[in-house]
Amino acid sequence: MRCDQTPAWKALTAHAHEAQGFDVRVAFAQDTSRVQRLSQNAPHVFADLSKNHVDVATEALLLDLAQQTGLSAHRDAMFRGERINNTEDRAVMHWLLRQPEGSLGGALAEPLALVHATLQPMLAYAETVRADAQITDVVNIGIGGSDLGPQMAVLALQDFVMPGKRFHFVSNVDGHELAGVLKGLKAQNTLFLIASKTFTTIETMTNARSAQAWFQAQGGQDVARHFAALTTNVVAAAEMGIRTTFGFWDWVGGRYSMWSAIGLPVAIAIGAQGFKDLLAGAHAMDRHFQTAPLAANLPVRLGLLDVWYRNFLKFTNRSIAPYHSALRRLPAYLQQLEMESNGKRVDRNGHALPYGTSPVLWGEPGTNGQHAYFQMLHQGSDVVPLEFIAVKKPTHSLQDHHALLLANVIAQAQALMVGKSDEGGHKHFPGNRPSTFLLLDELTPASLGALIALQEHRVFVSGAVWGINSFDQWGVELGKVLAKDIHARMLSGDSKGLDASTAALIDQIR
Ligand code: F6P
Repeated sequence: MRCDQTPAWKALTAHAHEAQGFDVRVAFAQDTSRVQRLSQNAPHVFADLSKNHVDVATEALLLDLAQQTGLSAHRDAMFRGERINNTEDRAVMHWLLRQPEGSLGGALAEPLALVHATLQPMLAYAETVRADAQITDVVNIGIGGSDLGPQMAVLALQDFVMPGKRFHFVSNVDGHELAGVLKGLKAQNTLFLIASKTFTTIETMTNARSAQAWFQAQGGQDVARHFAALTTNVVAAAEMGIRTTFGFWDWVGGRYSMWSAIGLPVAIAIGAQGFKDLLAGAHAMDRHFQTAPLAANLPVRLGLLDVWYRNFLKFTNRSIAPYHSALRRLPAYLQQLEMESNGKRVDRNGHALPYGTSPVLWGEPGTNGQHAYFQMLHQGSDVVPLEFIAVKKPTHSLQDHHALLLANVIAQAQALMVGKSDEGGHKHFPGNRPSTFLLLDELTPASLGALIALQEHRVFVSGAVWGINSFDQWGVELGKVLAKDIHARMLSGDSKGLDASTAALIDQIR
């Protein structure tokens, strides 16, 4: 049943009306067990949800909503390999990429065997590159899901990255990016990884061709040694003369692909065992999502909270604040994950929806954000729920720094909630501003894997409740088509049939 037609939706609407004056400070005063009830452990992640605008009744009604919209059945369909990406007629099985070898029977046994038959040579190749002292620079050329995941993970796991190799990520068709990277490289010391699920993306193909031309111009000889392709379209890679290829399958969405061959830069950076640990951490979260009762299922609780905020409390944003500088690309990664998955205005059958879906997601690492936009979060006219991510143990020995960092993240969550009312006017902090606190013990391949899988599944949960297809991305197509047309018109000067503004801009640029 569509979510807004369920009894639970109606009850939640009434509940939201009653909860208009909800004050989380009062909720704490009235309920000494609030922290216990609204916090939980999941694999590698401790979550404190208690500073959010929810109470027992809210969570109970949200669980009713999950049940009435068939969340568990939809989740189980994904894990059975059904073609839940209906608009592209594809299964959704990124989770299979982290499933232990031989652990599934039936129809999934064969794809799982294929996963491992691809993973093993990819990891062996990663080890070969690691052992090849002549390769000092690895350049990943890819965009969107073929860039953000590996880039985020290589940065996040910088303490596990082998010395002696540098990693570069070129995504934009803006030549400043590629030119800037190439400037510091030598052909004989560089490995280019051309990462593209489709091997048709204009940015990636343009960068790949320019990289090949640069390689040849530098006297580079052995293309097989210096170029590898990570793609589902091995044929197109071969047409480009790239013979070292690592494949994956159409049932892996671009933004869900860092566990596949797209993760090769990560595997080179942290080694085969590190990559296996990353997969194992994600798998532990998959099992949690599949088996934990909904009321104690962290992706379910976070996804339902997202629905509550978006549709009932009408919060349109979510801000991510990782208090760890190595997680500085995490907000960008999560932005694609949430907004490309759930930024949909029609249901799975293409019918327009009368309610909101994906929030606007954005953020920066703390404490930097505190000295930039946190002003708005504390005293602005809109309420923006914040998601803090902190890591208990640092990998450096500057203990004072880490204590200060953690003191700041706790203080921010506290300040947003408690506010300050002893002074008026400019110095008044309204408080009662919601936040979620995710805590990792350490930032390791395994904990990063679990954190990312948690985020994937929470996006699944809200998308499932909204009744949308979280696994297609038709909204990116129009711009691609128009860019081709405009490119041709810029060369020819033909602006016939264009709107006046577009024609004038082409004119200005020519
Ligand atoms: O344009 C959007 C998109 O299709 C994303 O979904 C994807 O992650 C990105 O482009 C890159 O696509 P590909 O890996 O096929 O080059």
